[in-house]
Amino acid sequence: MQAERSDAFVFFGATGDLAFKQIFPALLGLIRDEGFDLPIIGVARSGDVDSLRARARASLDAAGVADPVAFARLIELLRYVPGSDDDVETFRALRRELGDARHPLHYLAIPPALFGAVIDNLGQSRCANGARVILEKPFGRDLATARTLNATAHRVFPEPAIFRIDHYLGKEPVQDLLYFRFANSFLEPIWNRDHVASVQITMSEAFDVADRGAFYDQVGAIRDVVQNHLLQVVSLLALEPPSGHTPEAVRNEQFKVLDSIRPLTPSDVARGQYDGYRTVAGVTPDSIVETFVALRLEIDTWRWGGVPFYIRTGKSLPLTATEVLVELKRPPQAVFAEQEPPDSDYLRFRLTPDMSISLGARAKRPGEAMVGESVELYASHQSGTERPPYQRLIGDASRGDQSLFSREDSVEAAWRIVDGILGDRAPVHAYARGTWGPPEAEAVLRRGDHWHAPVAASAAGSVAAAPAGSAPGPSVSVPRGSVAG
Ligand code: BG6
Repeated sequence: MQAERSDAFVFFGATGDLAFKQIFPALLGLIRDEGFDLPIIGVARSGDVDSLRARARASLDAAGVADPVAFARLIELLRYVPGSDDDVETFRALRRELGDARHPLHYLAIPPALFGAVIDNLGQSRCANGARVILEKPFGRDLATARTLNATAHRVFPEPAIFRIDHYLGKEPVQDLLYFRFANSFLEPIWNRDHVASVQITMSEAFDVADRGAFYDQVGAIRDVVQNHLLQVVSLLALEPPSGHTPEAVRNEQFKVLDSIRPLTPSDVARGQYDGYRTVAGVTPDSIVETFVALRLEIDTWRWGGVPFYIRTGKSLPLTATEVLVELKRPPQAVFAEQEPPDSDYLRFRLTPDMSISLGARAKRPGEAMVGESVELYASHQSGTERPPYQRLIGDASRGDQSLFSREDSVEAAWRIVDGILGDRAPVHAYARGTWGPPEAEAVLRRGDHWHAPVAASAAGSVAAAPAGSAPGPSVSVPRGSVAG
């Protein structure tokens, strides 16, 4: 049965940071590309419809998205309800503003501490009848609070009406992980413990917490990006082929992966904090919050038993890039007497800032000797055509499509994985800005493994970096979508 389309879009926190950075540009994109024409109602404590319009313009200017026709339509659709998240009168006014709308889509772009009050008020004012709700991350602070929040949401909204947003799932290269795995049959025979030595996911950010100190100090790297974005990436890399024809098929398999990951203990992680973090506005002077984490996951399944999945992420690292490196096992026997031990073959998925897939292998260097070098087959995406994640996800939610949203059981399973390493359970070590975190990160690795450093954006593609420690070799570059001949 076709899901009912939403007939109004309401966003709480209309004057906030998230609305400014993501929601206005996403709405403009939806109007421009998909003829989105729902009434758009902003709810915020202060201002009026004119100041909200001015804010929309400033947001789009800052995002560099100019489209006068779509902007004029956005201004026409925009309405405003002043008020407070804990005042039931605000919600009665909202119900009046919704008019004939029977299936509003409510976006809670507000601090999670306010979710409970807003959800209850939506219920009491009948604004929740036939409605959907989008909840921003972080979804809870740990397993216990996530469960409480799920129970709160379910008091008013059934699970099919709850859209827990994780913008990573709306990213084109993240969806391509799923596509690439199951649209190609060559991968499946090697995608397991017999052929894969390790999987490494790096989300490295060269920038620091900037003006987000107050938010970040309540959260830290594990809650900010590991529990959600990076565990979603792990689930897509490790899941079994989805079977069945329901829209839940993929989400079922994602849940099974998360449910099979052994809960982390302090000895599986190294936490770090960059020098100077404690002087950032909004950060407590004796903060022990991590701005860096390195960890090792074990997935207890027949396919992945014994294969380490490493995650390394942080702020103020040497460069900004997110990538996955799947390192393959070496040949069982050294047939060629080479002085340098050859590097392992690998598959690399580059997720940000550029999008590419590469296969690293060995090939013979021309000459009499049977000596080789590392080469890389490289396929890059011509960027600029993909829809920004928030545009994609708000559009999906308005159509009732939950495929790219986090399900209740998966969110709780992900918290269960990290629950044992939150807070001060593992020590936090200082690191200098612009480095790869504290030296303690080495202790997370199994003997013989090493951390892999992604290449900088401008170098990706022109320099095919082999796994860390080895010299780059030649690469064959094939734009994705074209055929190499
Ligand atoms: C957000 C985190 O969810 O994701 C940020 O709060 C992080 O700290 C960001 O920088 C990274 O997302 P992207 O899409 O910019 O790679």
